[in-house]
Amino acid sequence: MEGRSINFGAGPSALPEDVLQEAAKGLLNFEGTGIGIAEISHRSKEFGACLSKLESHIRTLLDVPQTHSILFTQGGGSAQFSAIVLNLLARHRLLHPELKDEERVMDYVITGSWSQKAAAEARRLGGGKVNVVVDSREFSTKDKKSFDNIPPHGDNNNAYKFSPDPALIFYCENETVDGVQFAHDQASPASFPFHRLPQSALLPLVGDHSSSFMSRSIPHLADHAVIYAGAQKNIGPAGLTIIIVRQDCIVDVDAAAKLGASPVPITMSYKTLADHGSLYNTPSTLAIYVAGLVLQRMKNMGGLEYYENVNRAKQAKLYNAIEESEGILRRKVREDAGSWMNVVFDVAGDGADTRFIAGADKLGMKAMKGHRSAGGIRVSLYNAISEKETDQLIEYIKEFVRQEKGRVASEAA
Ligand SMILES: Cc1ncc(COP(=O)(O)O)c(C=O)c1O
Repeated sequence: MEGRSINFGAGPSALPEDVLQEAAKGLLNFEGTGIGIAEISHRSKEFGACLSKLESHIRTLLDVPQTHSILFTQGGGSAQFSAIVLNLLARHRLLHPELKDEERVMDYVITGSWSQKAAAEARRLGGGKVNVVVDSREFSTKDKKSFDNIPPHGDNNNAYKFSPDPALIFYCENETVDGVQFAHDQASPASFPFHRLPQSALLPLVGDHSSSFMSRSIPHLADHAVIYAGAQKNIGPAGLTIIIVRQDCIVDVDAAAKLGASPVPITMSYKTLADHGSLYNTPSTLAIYVAGLVLQRMKNMGGLEYYENVNRAKQAKLYNAIEESEGILRRKVREDAGSWMNVVFDVAGDGADTRFIAGADKLGMKAMKGHRSAGGIRVSLYNAISEKETDQLIEYIKEFVRQEKGRVASEAA
């Protein structure tokens, strides 16, 4: 559509144009009801069908087993930083009522700003002790201060110190701010160390998949207690949070509170969400509708496999262009840990970041400024960014690099 830019923003982010056109119709008249999706009751049978369809799309696309429920709520990843602690500490209390708070451990794998925030919230809420399994900054070859790597887990250099029976084990699959992601190839030294986890059939493993959800398959999905994601990166508007939760983690939080656990706000309890089919209170109806359309489109295009292949190709091309820039662009993250979804880099030279962004802006390529805490450039390549649009960016990068080299040469002359 004329006038639309290519939006490389990190979230809320690009959505497929044909979905937006379809959604515009639903906004006026949802499923022939004569009422728009933002106006219709969440108790109507038409909306109920829409919610069930979204759940069924997620279950089939990701191959979620029947051991796991799919719940929908609001509050984003940030609310889940609190909800995982409250629900899983309640579960631990029911399993081990005799333990004191300081004997309950919550394991956090810290590989970037979001996992750091998640651990800070666990500390703030209390009710257990936070054990930092690993902090990847210690493995930064740059300055020991940067989130620029995934720590090693080999036989001779294992960095991960998991506790024997924690209430939860947290990791963030893709660090949106820092551009660090666990490698998808399970043989890679930068993969998540599933083989290092304590041996238990019902591990309380929690994955924050906010910014990689539906971009590729989830390794060891069935071994997770909780996987959650905000919709606003790959699948829809902000306001919808998806939680995939193993049924043994949907516990009676009020029974746990009677044993001394913290009371859980009713809308944060997984049991409330599960018992009411995610309709305890008013859900984000519009976001649910649009996410359903996005996932229907995804299915039509060839499902997760199709997107995984396209996403692999897009990021490979972009990292390659950075590599070939001969130092004009410099990637910030170590090679095996570079995110497929959020590619971060610096541009060499005074004011070069600004020149890069201004030049792209003129060509209708927007929202590539790095996160305010990280600076530099961040290009987000979520599902709605096509390979063709990525190629357009790469053409621009090549031209930009040519111009910057010319500038450096003339300044030296
Ligand atoms: C990996 C990750 N986790 C958590 C969050 C927080 O999500 P929200 O802003 O929806 O609360 C974000 C937001 O960008 C994120 O990228």
